[in-house]
Parts: sequence; C-alpha cells; structure tokens
Amino acid sequence: MNEQSVCILAVETSCDETSVAVVENGVRIRSNVVSSQIETHRRFGGVVPEIASRKHVESITWMIEEALQQAELTTDRLSAIAVTQGPGLVGALLVGIMAAKSLAYALELPLIAVHHIAGHIYANQLVQPIEYPAIALVVSGGHTELVYLEAPARFRIVGQTRDDAAGEAYDKVARALRLPYPGGPHIDKLAHEADVAQEMPRAWLEPDSYDFSFSGLKSAVLNTVNQAQMRGEALQSAQIARGFQESVIDVLVTKALRAVNEFSARQLLLAGGVAANRGLRAQLSERCAELGVPLIVPPLSLCTDNAAMIAAAAFLKWERRDFAELDLQAVPLLNLETW
Ligand code: KG4
Ligand code: ZN
Repeated sequence: MNEQSVCILAVETSCDETSVAVVENGVRIRSNVVSSQIETHRRFGGVVPEIASRKHVESITWMIEEALQQAELTTDRLSAIAVTQGPGLVGALLVGIMAAKSLAYALELPLIAVHHIAGHIYANQLVQPIEYPAIALVVSGGHTELVYLEAPARFRIVGQTRDDAAGEAYDKVARALRLPYPGGPHIDKLAHEADVAQEMPRAWLEPDSYDFSFSGLKSAVLNTVNQAQMRGEALQSAQIARGFQESVIDVLVTKALRAVNEFSARQLLLAGGVAANRGLRAQLSERCAELGVPLIVPPLSLCTDNAAMIAAAAFLKWERRDFAELDLQAVPLLNLETW
C-alpha cells in the first residue's frame, strides 16, 4: 500500500447482518467481516427489529477491531469512516451510525453516509470497473428495481416493484412450502431438484413498463398449496418451487435486457441478496452471452449484505469530498436518486 492509498472503513447494520470492512481505493478489499443473525431470527420466521438492534450492539465493537486486524492496518492509515444511512430498520441503522460517528470523531476522520442500494450496486465495482451508462438489476429482500446509471453515482430508477420485493416473495413462498427462513436459498435448491415446473403466471404489466409485481405469483403459489391440502394430495414442493423461480427469473431477465437495449447500456450489473440465486445467475449469463451484453455478477459473498460494498460506494463520495456531519440521522426510507 502506498502513501496515497485511500482506505475507507465501512459499517453496515441496516438489517440482520453486522458487517465491517476496509476497502482500499474503492476497489481492493482488505477485509470484509460479516456476522449474520439468521440463526437468531430463524425461529421467528423473519427479522425481529428489536433483536436485530441488540445483536448489532453486541457485535459491532469487536467486529471493527477484527476488520482492522484482518486488513493489517492501524487506525492512522484510515482516510474516512463510511456507514449505511438507509434504507433499513431504523434501530439497526442507528447502531452502525453511532459506531461510525464515534470512530470518525475520535480519529478525526471524515464521515461518509451511504445508501444501502448504492452499496449493492457498487459491489460490482469490486469485481471489475463499471462502464457508463449502465443498467443495474437490484433484487434484494426489500427492493426490486431497475436502475439507470448515466454516470458514477447518478441513479435513476426506471422500474420498481409495485408490491412485494423479489426476496420478500421468495421468503413468503418458502414459508408456505414450510422451508426455513430466509427462504431464497432453499427455494433455489429445491427448484433444481424438480424435473418439471408447475405452471405459474407471469406479471408483465403494461407493455412499456419496467415495473414488477410479484403478489399475483405469490397468491398463485398459495392457492396451489391450499388446493393440494384441501384435496389431501401430497405437495409437489419442488415443482412449485421451480415454477415460481422460473416465473420470477423470466420477468426479471426479460425486463432487464429490454432496459439495457432501450438505454444503450454498456453493462448490466446484478445486485442484491437475490443475485445469489443460481437460477437467476445462470439464466442472465446465458441470455447476456447470446445477445453480447457485458454482464457483471458479484461473487455470492458480495451479493448479500456486507460492508465492502458500502465502502466501494463511499469512495465515490470521498472523491467529491461529500462528507456527512456528526449529526447524521438514520433514514429508513432514504431515496436513491437524491442520495
Ligand atoms: O440484499 P439482502 O441480503 O438483504 C436486503 O437488503 O434485503 O437480501 C436478502 C434476500 C432474502 O429475501 C433472501 O431470501 C434472498 O435475499 N436470497 C435469495 C438467495 N439468497 C438470498 N433469494 C433467492 N435465491 C437465493 N439463492
Ligand atoms: Zn441488502
């Protein structure tokens, strides 16, 4: 590491993962420590906000130490402290924000506020340089969006879900099929075990719309499950999982590629927890290869929540010297376009 290297320590606590990372010059991960609370929340079938906050409090201090240790850095080599400001659970966000503010104050370093979805999108920059204009397909537990990036950190949402997010639909369908929380990986696995798919609807919406809707699909799955139960038939879980997954992927991939074409994007970026889906990754890679669309897909560890992606997005603000004040507030519904 040379004298000019910019090392940003980032903190992410927006939901049920506590994470601290150190990233050099916005692209080189020196450490990315993630502690998942999934085991704690599983018995409740979803994230319990109050418990999430308490768990973040328990882990954050040792995780900051661990991230610095793994990065083989002392605090005097840090250039800035970054933190997720939103969107997310307000109590969970607050823990990260308080930790980041304290560090920034004690070390006399600038504080950088980051939008969680900007982080998911800039996880791609940790894989390879992003070329503009680009289209990002953001699919996470709380968001499903097609985002147009005209230039670095200039986001325009061209389509979004009108009801459930893709990850949310996965989790609800998994619950109906009696799979553990979070359901995404379980549905993904089960879908690969079926040799045929149960027929499921696709919500294309208006012909020119980039919006998504997954609630009709979710209801179709629930109806299938209820009908099987009423008739006393064995549930064809794998076939249902495959039908559901094929419907979600078909709509996501088709709309993303239409956006790439219409906006003359030079790259398609995949982002968010659902980007860990094997079926989606395979289908998107195949279609992009056929059409000659350059695709970036982050490795699994950078798809689900982590602080390295927050540091990568923070680097853009570092370059513009766009720093936050120490009275920074958590914003549970932070807007991506004005961030
Ligand atoms: O981005 P993320 O880690 O958290 C949010 O910011 O929301 O996304 C979590 C979501 C969960 O709904 C989870 O079920 C889903 O990502 N997920 C998956 C897979 N792995 C995680 N969904 C489908 N297939 C997967 N393999
Ligand atoms: Zn996320």
